[in-house]
Amino acid sequence: MASLRFPEGFHWGAATSAYQIEGAAAEDGKGPSIWDVFCREPGRIWNGETGAVACDHYHRWATDVALMAELGLPGYRFSIAWPRIQPSGAGPANPAGLAFYDRLVDALLAAGIAPCATLYHWDLPQALQDQGGWASRDTAARFADYAALCYARLGDRVERWITHNEPLITVVYGHVLGVLAPGIRDLATAGRVLHHVLLSHGLAVQAFRASGRAGAIGIANADRSLEPADDRPETAAATERARDFELRAYHDPLFGRGYPASVLAYFAAHGAPLPIRDGDLATIAAPIDFVGANVYTRARIVADPGSATGWTEAPPTLPLTEMGYEQAPEALGAVVRFLDAEYGRPPIWVTENGVCDNTPPVDGVVDDRLRIELLRGFLASLARAIADGADVRAYYLWSLLDNFEWAYGTSKRFGIVWTDFATQARLPKASARFYAEVIRWGGVEV
Ligand code: FCB
Repeated sequence: MASLRFPEGFHWGAATSAYQIEGAAAEDGKGPSIWDVFCREPGRIWNGETGAVACDHYHRWATDVALMAELGLPGYRFSIAWPRIQPSGAGPANPAGLAFYDRLVDALLAAGIAPCATLYHWDLPQALQDQGGWASRDTAARFADYAALCYARLGDRVERWITHNEPLITVVYGHVLGVLAPGIRDLATAGRVLHHVLLSHGLAVQAFRASGRAGAIGIANADRSLEPADDRPETAAATERARDFELRAYHDPLFGRGYPASVLAYFAAHGAPLPIRDGDLATIAAPIDFVGANVYTRARIVADPGSATGWTEAPPTLPLTEMGYEQAPEALGAVVRFLDAEYGRPPIWVTENGVCDNTPPVDGVVDDRLRIELLRGFLASLARAIADGADVRAYYLWSLLDNFEWAYGTSKRFGIVWTDFATQARLPKASARFYAEVIRWGGVEV
């Protein structure tokens, strides 16, 4: 048995996002978001569900903060719903919207929990979508205005900021595959979205510096560990191309390298060159304080000369979770090692990591063993990457609560706390006790 302890000062927390937990979709002046609209389209969401109520956190925030305190969480990552702050995506702040996050932040601080606010976790004001959404350059400027309102009101107490959650998902799932809001399937649109989302990130970082607020700002990327499926040279080349499209396209510009040549060529070849203007790449490369990694699994890559990108995924070989993800705990360490090597040892925060495990309560107990086993493995691989030199400073477990899992609705549970969606009761699972112990002890035993 090995005892793997994390460095002194390592920050632990749990994560959620606004649309997935808040509910109160039309309260206190909140405008509709693209998710409110998308959920109403027939066939989009499992069982026709919506996030109109979700975990009702908008009304139960005090109970939820008390739960976090009881679990001994030092940190909590939540997201701010842009359409609560600016119902139509522009103009002055809606006081009631800001007041909600104000109360939440005060309650967290009173409980000794450090808040970490994500500015964009996919709930774009519908009014901005109606004007072109992220495909419109103007949305990037609007985002920086919105960010400045948040820094002004909350930045005296919130010292950890994340601009975007997973631009890759916005681009690919929202605008290529069309399975998440806004449900568009168009490559030319997707290229514009990619560039404008990253541009908006850079503008929001600049606005943070201009605000004079203290603290750290970064981004949370969707990082799978992409691994060659075999040892043929063409597989290695395909894996590098896959890393260009999934990883480097979203990281290289942050580190001043511009977009990978393969990605630029791909969009140009499809008649949709990225809409890069003079100065944009410098804006996107505005220095960040950490790079956030959301890691759930790996993918095995093979060459596919018939596909437009030249690569595809090989069938999984490991057992799958109920989400259909390969059970690959080594993926977390692998991603961290990739970022560490590729970008010259940047400060890394694991901004999401977790497990879908739908185990239900039996006699008031949720014995979610698979989640515990995989979390232990993820944390062990992370601890080893840190021991080998990676500068990882924080870990946020996804998620505090079972919540509205986007197109899967309530059918996929990632929480360490069970949510009874009929009664809104919360029940900490065995994994919550496990995680509380990890935090108390500062590591894992494997
Ligand atoms: C991530 C999302 C998060 C949640 C988890 C399971 O991609 O950021 O909102 O859906 O997956």
